[in-house]
Amino acid sequence: MSDKNFYITTPIYYVNDVPHIGHAYTTIACDVMSRYKRLKGYDVFFLTGTDEHGQKIQQSAEKQGITPQALVDKIHLNFKDLWRVLNISNNDFIRTTEERHIKTVQAVFKKLMDQGDIYKGTYQGYYCVPCETYVPESSMGENKTCPDCGRPLTIMTEESYFFKCSKYVDKLIKYYEENLSGVMPKIRYNEIMSFLKSGVRDQSVSRTSLKWGIPVPGDEKHVIYVWFDALINYISALGWPDDGQGKFKKFWPDAYHMVGKDIIRFHCVTWPLMLLALGIDLPKSIIAHGWWTFNGEKMSKSKGNVIDPFKMAEEYGLDAFRYFLLREVPFGNDGDFSELALVGRINSDLANDLGNLLNRTLQMIESYRGGVVPSGAVNSELKDFAAKTLEAVDLNLNKFAFDEALKSIWAFISRANKFIDETEPWKLAKDAAQADKLDCVLLSLYEALRFIALLIAPFMPDTADKMLAQLGVESLGGYDAFEFGKGADNKINKAEVLFPRIDIKEWQKNYEAKREELRKRMESLNLENKDIKDVEVKDAPAENVIEHEAEIGIDDFKTVEMRVAKIIKAEEIKKSKKLYKLEVDLGYETRTVCSGIKAFFTTEELDGKRVILVCNLKPAKLCGIESNGMILAASVKKDGVSEQLTLVVPEADIPLGSRVS
Ligand code: MSP
Repeated sequence: MSDKNFYITTPIYYVNDVPHIGHAYTTIACDVMSRYKRLKGYDVFFLTGTDEHGQKIQQSAEKQGITPQALVDKIHLNFKDLWRVLNISNNDFIRTTEERHIKTVQAVFKKLMDQGDIYKGTYQGYYCVPCETYVPESSMGENKTCPDCGRPLTIMTEESYFFKCSKYVDKLIKYYEENLSGVMPKIRYNEIMSFLKSGVRDQSVSRTSLKWGIPVPGDEKHVIYVWFDALINYISALGWPDDGQGKFKKFWPDAYHMVGKDIIRFHCVTWPLMLLALGIDLPKSIIAHGWWTFNGEKMSKSKGNVIDPFKMAEEYGLDAFRYFLLREVPFGNDGDFSELALVGRINSDLANDLGNLLNRTLQMIESYRGGVVPSGAVNSELKDFAAKTLEAVDLNLNKFAFDEALKSIWAFISRANKFIDETEPWKLAKDAAQADKLDCVLLSLYEALRFIALLIAPFMPDTADKMLAQLGVESLGGYDAFEFGKGADNKINKAEVLFPRIDIKEWQKNYEAKREELRKRMESLNLENKDIKDVEVKDAPAENVIEHEAEIGIDDFKTVEMRVAKIIKAEEIKKSKKLYKLEVDLGYETRTVCSGIKAFFTTEELDGKRVILVCNLKPAKLCGIESNGMILAASVKKDGVSEQLTLVVPEADIPLGSRVS
């Protein structure tokens, strides 16, 4: 068994959310660490997965008239899709509805009950249904709202099992005092220590108010609290207590959990207290990263400012997106997402610094040495710089300082570019007496590039592969096997552009136009909504005159987010002749939409109908009801009034929330 093991986990994601940049961020960071450790010769186990129990799933499934299991079976695939698109190299994907997980959770519960660390009591508290958590009065928002999502809290009283975690708090404080990197970075460590020292009460770990969860062994009217259930994924995936194929024994001693700063109490307090009670060693470290905002605001579906990782990867290239996320912001800090900053990094760091170095070097090897890498001595300064760069990358990645690791790689790239300017190979090539010197320059630059491909491979795996293909190198090898100078006599392939430069003026024009078009579209859609509000429409087009809109580009079209949804409830709005109030389900959330289709359907005809919803339409108040989106319909109008109307519907069964394009 290798003594170099590494176990890294992402949080398991709530399935009812659409995957967004926050999820992508944690998972890409874990992917980089996993790839890096593999290149260092470690046996890596990289785990991610989905958190599938809880009230929201139960409610959503009820509304759709399907079982919660059928719902999660469908929607967890959104995450699997994203990980495929983002080139994530996870070794396992755990779902909390899997038998292997349920078995472990029940074994944990039973063990703690048997040893008297779980007992029965009554719980009353303020509960946030969407966040599935009780909120202590001290952290409630104004008017008893949830401090995280801002929604109103509900008082809940229920018989509950409690975890006697207070018993282990002193032990945990002592552990953290002796293990300063148990929680990283320092600011989060301090936060956790002061929380622990302020006292921790026993925690309620079961619910009777919902059914969609893992039953408490021997008392099936209770299901296990979703967070208690979810945290256990980190050991259920390793096969605890039966120890799978030795995975728990092998990997648990080298466990690292990566999480966002919002969920550190669960990970740095609740989870370690559970482990102490179980007699299991604590993970090596829990690393908390900051949050991405957009234009300084928290991203949220209702504000429509959520960054879609699928879209970013498609528009700017996956590796550029991966690079940007980890380079732009120090890992523990919050960062504001800016597409302009992303474009800036593509042009300067990727196209200019890295792309040019590769291109210039390959072209010189082609012109001066017929495409064969010369042999001979290497430049010792560049060789030493490479060794120092690897030390810096090691040091920084072991501290999860991704941005610093990338900075040191780019310092090496700059040095290599400067080396070309200093040695002026084009002059050396003109003088036969300088042939050895030119050989040394070309070989050193080639080796620098081979080394850079290896260094960036964890961050940008596709780019590393493209570089190797051009350099004529078959496989990456590991860091320890790298020898500066060994690439002599390799035959290179054709130089190709790694990252095309983005014309910033053109980009800005398109970007502005994209935003302007979206704004106009929103406005015009709002006008249509006003029309629904019984406002007289002037200048309605004459019959048989087809009014065309101005031509738009595909990018403009893409700004309109349309998804498959299902009407789960249609209601009369007494005050309106035209409007219905519709409750629609997108699979990951439900919304209220007002729609001017009353003249064409009864409420019964609409119930259960699948439709297409424009999701990113600015909310509008219609008859006092906030409408969040618009369902698509085709109509024939006369004098501005619809005479005939039909809903646009998906022609075959497809998961709710699927994007229409
Ligand atoms: N299901 C729980 C985790 C259970 S782990 C035993 C959960 N899921 S989540 O889907 O809501 O969030 C998962 C992760 O996404 C968290 O680490 C959270 O910090 C991260 N992010 C969500 N939005 C984010 C940003 N805007 N920016 C960065 N990360 C953010 O919590």
